[in-house]
Amino acid sequence: MKSELYKGREQARFKHELLEAYLERLFMIVGHHQRTICYVDCFAGPWQAKGDDLEDTSIAVSLNIIRKCREGLLKINHNVHFKALFVEKDPTAHAKLKDYLDGRNDEGVETHPLHGEFIQLREEILSRCGNDSFTFFFVDPTGWKDAVELATLDPLLRRPNSEFLINFMYDFLVRTHTQEPFSDDMKRIFGRVPDTKGMTAKAREEHLVRLYRENLKTVVPTRGGKPRTACVQVKKVLLDRTLYHLVYLTRHPKGIAEFMAASDGLDLVQKRLRALAKQESQVESSGQLVLIAADESIKKEEGRADLSEVKSYWLTKLSSIPRRFGITELADMLEETDWFASDFQKAFKELDAEGKVKNQDAKTVRPVNVVNFEKGEMLVKLT
Ligand SMILES: C[S@@+](CC[C@H](N)C(=O)[O-])C[C@H]1O[C@@H](n2cnc3c(N)ncnc32)[C@H](O)[C@@H]1O
Repeated sequence: MKSELYKGREQARFKHELLEAYLERLFMIVGHHQRTICYVDCFAGPWQAKGDDLEDTSIAVSLNIIRKCREGLLKINHNVHFKALFVEKDPTAHAKLKDYLDGRNDEGVETHPLHGEFIQLREEILSRCGNDSFTFFFVDPTGWKDAVELATLDPLLRRPNSEFLINFMYDFLVRTHTQEPFSDDMKRIFGRVPDTKGMTAKAREEHLVRLYRENLKTVVPTRGGKPRTACVQVKKVLLDRTLYHLVYLTRHPKGIAEFMAASDGLDLVQKRLRALAKQESQVESSGQLVLIAADESIKKEEGRADLSEVKSYWLTKLSSIPRRFGITELADMLEETDWFASDFQKAFKELDAEGKVKNQDAKTVRPVNVVNFEKGEMLVKLT
């Protein structure tokens, strides 16, 4: 992605990188068993696009990855039909969207620009997706009203065989959740008016995001596994404060593992983008050039889970009776803690070296991934 197109809105670049990384994993997996895959951008834009060909928008990012995945799947004899729906209410933006879609010609990919309010178009969206497809809904509005509340999303959340990525606008919500005029809105979003009195900033953030995630999980479709959520924090570019969270909802444990793996891969990207943007802003205001680019000094460990906490957590999960840890167990752990699989691997490796735990199925020394969750392996705590 071109840095100059994202100058001053680096958080959008991170959002697009995550969308791209996760959609690629998702489509390549789902495409093995699904004949039709739908992608629905419920608040599509284009919005704040700088590039002429919309390359810095979720519209182009998603279509490019759809094209790449369709070609990849064709090579392994899976002819997947893709449908991509883009909803936009603003007439000017919608006209640009329509022109862009008319100008693309991606074989095997049907595109539909829908003009109007998302809330009014929910039935049409569902009917265009049909009953047999797998559908990914991207919900990235500019405000919360008629967008992220449970009642608004309810008909979509009831659809089986679907996943969601929702922009949870923390920066707005943290300021308004205690204000009386917004209490009805808060009930619609959280299921109740959140009580965060006396909480630290970190505890309040965790509480509000958890509350929203738990509320989303209360809507259960007729079929599919238990609902699960994960989320990624996106910070303001120049300040050390959260701008929004991207909340992910699936009914499949593998979805959580894949989403968190995609996020893990981009954790360092976000830190580097923010460090560079801060440095550029300092250079602009001071007029002084710097010799070392700020992103080079960023360490992967910064802001990551405390390894001693991850180790203690592992020990609570294990016992002297060996237990199989597969993708479902990994998804439970990821969902419970919001840590990454790589954090769990590192912590298990240290515990193993300390003689506290053992992977009974690891016959040889594994330098990085000491537990193969894909296979499911027997882990035990040594006393
Ligand atoms: C945050 S922008 C989308 C950005 C886009 N997802 C991206 O990453 O490039 C939200 C878009 O939703 C549109 N919008 C706002 N309210 C809407 C509504 N009720 N229904 C449909 N579109 C809406 C806005 O005009 C804007 O283009």
